[in-house]
Amino acid sequence: MGLPEAVTVVEVGPRDGLQNEPGVVPTEVKVGFIDRLAATGLTVVEATSFVHPRWVPQLADAAVVLAGITPLDGVRYPALVPNETGLDRALESGVDEVAVFGAASEAFSQRNLNRTIDESLAMFAPVVVRATDAGLRVRGYVSTVLGCPFQGQVPQDDVLRVTAALLDLGCHEISLGDTIGVGTAGQVHDLLDHLAPHTGLDRLAVHMHDTYGQGLANTLAAFEAGITVADASAGGLGGCPYAPGAKGNLATEDLVWALERSGVHTGVDLTALIDTIAWMADQLGRPPVSRAAQAILARRDARPDDPYYC
Ligand code: HMG
Ligand code: MG
Repeated sequence: MGLPEAVTVVEVGPRDGLQNEPGVVPTEVKVGFIDRLAATGLTVVEATSFVHPRWVPQLADAAVVLAGITPLDGVRYPALVPNETGLDRALESGVDEVAVFGAASEAFSQRNLNRTIDESLAMFAPVVVRATDAGLRVRGYVSTVLGCPFQGQVPQDDVLRVTAALLDLGCHEISLGDTIGVGTAGQVHDLLDHLAPHTGLDRLAVHMHDTYGQGLANTLAAFEAGITVADASAGGLGGCPYAPGAKGNLATEDLVWALERSGVHTGVDLTALIDTIAWMADQLGRPPVSRAAQAILARRDARPDDPYYC
């Protein structure tokens, strides 16, 4: 396979995972999760969101979480901000990177941000300018790039329009989200072929969800196409509040297992990652959903010297 030599894994579990938990995870557990993840060698751990607490009560403690973590050198801890109110809160908390999050589908933009796509871009513009002026990197998300839970198909030109607009605003990287996990590897190739002549690939990342079990295949397809940054969530935490039955993000351990055993460097210590996932599973009171975590934990208990334990 034409995979890159090394990739960056953006860990989104503490944000995308925990925002979808049915209950509110205690702040000290979030802090422990983030610190443990950062210690595995992950270089980006998305920590939280400064969104309206009425919309996402699970992350209402964003400032306390950021104040509680012990930042490691070489690790970035971005936070989502939808608007200037969110940016103000994030700046007060001393964030080093923020992310704005738009959608390629009008229906999803309305549900997620209470804004049309154009209104959302207008909302993001001052956020990107002010954050950049303050020396922060700004990531941009585009959701529903391979399908929307409300409108179904999403035209590739709609994905291109929002991606290009976020790059023009000054985002350093755009994460393309298959928010409900309906895409396939062939569709990933088609979409990237469509975007590349206009946006290039070096500022694009992918963010795959695993609803139909395609998260890993879709991410590898993106890597084969030339992408080198992908989002994943430890333990496969997450889901989509607007898509009943939707599973979580691609699990970080599924991705790291596949990449490291294919000779692609991630910098992540899989043993430490599995320890973190087992710890978090204890906190949440349920086992991790990912194949890799289940297999490794089962083997680890049975035979600690097993070569397939990590
Ligand atoms: P709105 O109701 O239109 O807000 O929500 P507004 O601008 O009309 O303001 C209403 C009130 O909210 C005001 O207070 C504001 O100050 C306050 P009042 O004057 O009434 O007292 N307010 C805030 N308070 C705290 N923090 C803020 C904030 N903003 C306004 N940031 C809004 C608009 C964007 C705020 C709302 O829709 C929202 O918070 N949406 C966030 C939804 C969300 O977090 N979704 C999940 C993340 S996206 C995702 O998961 C996809 C992704 O993973 C990629 C993928 O999978 O595709 C990234
Ligand atoms: Mg997501």
